[in-house]
Amino acid sequence: MAERARVAVLISGRGSNMAALIYAARAADCPFEVALVTGDRPDAPGLALAEAEGIEVERIAYDKSTFFQTLESLLSDKTIEIIALAGFMRLIPPAFIARWAGRIVNIHPSLLPRHKGLRTHEAVLAAGERVTGASVHLVSEEVDSGELLGQVEVAVLPGDTAETLAERVLIAEHQLYPRVLAQFVGRERDPAWIEARVGALALALPETSFKTSHGAPAWRVGSESSGKLFAILFNRHHGEDSVGVLVKASGQDEMAQLIDAEPEIYFRPAYYGPSDWIGIRLDRSNVDWDHVAEWLARSWRACAPPRLTKLLRAAEEF
Ligand code: GRF
Repeated sequence: MAERARVAVLISGRGSNMAALIYAARAADCPFEVALVTGDRPDAPGLALAEAEGIEVERIAYDKSTFFQTLESLLSDKTIEIIALAGFMRLIPPAFIARWAGRIVNIHPSLLPRHKGLRTHEAVLAAGERVTGASVHLVSEEVDSGELLGQVEVAVLPGDTAETLAERVLIAEHQLYPRVLAQFVGRERDPAWIEARVGALALALPETSFKTSHGAPAWRVGSESSGKLFAILFNRHHGEDSVGVLVKASGQDEMAQLIDAEPEIYFRPAYYGPSDWIGIRLDRSNVDWDHVAEWLARSWRACAPPRLTKLLRAAEEF
């Protein structure tokens, strides 16, 4: 099995959702691990619980001007791939969110987009709604507005108060969060999802089409008859453990250098390696897709017929 995604959970208080994530991650087939718990309040009860469960905990005293910088270097030291907010009560600066785009998830106790922000249960009761619930979503700059990853409904009972409703919604949250996080992390390691993403990038380049190569999904540039492959999806072929895309390197020297410098990103594929195909690993959750797009464009250039690259050069000089 590929390695588990390394998740940092950020809390400000009780940490019951954090606990749900920690216990879910104890299942042998859970695709994530809670590699770190931290937050803005060194005395948050959840931190003590995480510690007692043997999870790595970092206590950062909140300081407006340094907190997110300290957090950033901590996350990088611990090679964290995904941040899960679980009752974390600080607004995250836009620059931080941008750097972690698509890699911060949050749980919110309502059926988003209904009732963003605080005091959601009071709002549900005041509106006389019969159903509420919880949502897990990606964090974007605007509060509680990123892509929805999963939801669960909870009935409002006659006589419910904000407290009784919060209690039941919390039970639903504890079920929802681990399940959705597992799916989310899993999708980035799912060969079909990876193939769709690579395909979208490859087909955005001029005169490209899909083709299979020895059964593997691949993309070529040029005409039906004389087109050349410039990208091949590599899915654990020949007993190897990587899912990745193969692109053309300039030669064996460059390949050796890259693999040596960044073995967690590059690999030498069996069978294709000798003809200068280098593998870029994609079954990780911190794939830099801009970097993959650059490699695809470069490989496209190396394989495209002169009539196409000439056009491109002319456009660049223009
Ligand atoms: C939960 O209701 C969560 O949805 C919201 O804050 C609360 C945190 O509770 N974002 P806990 O600390 O996980 O127990």
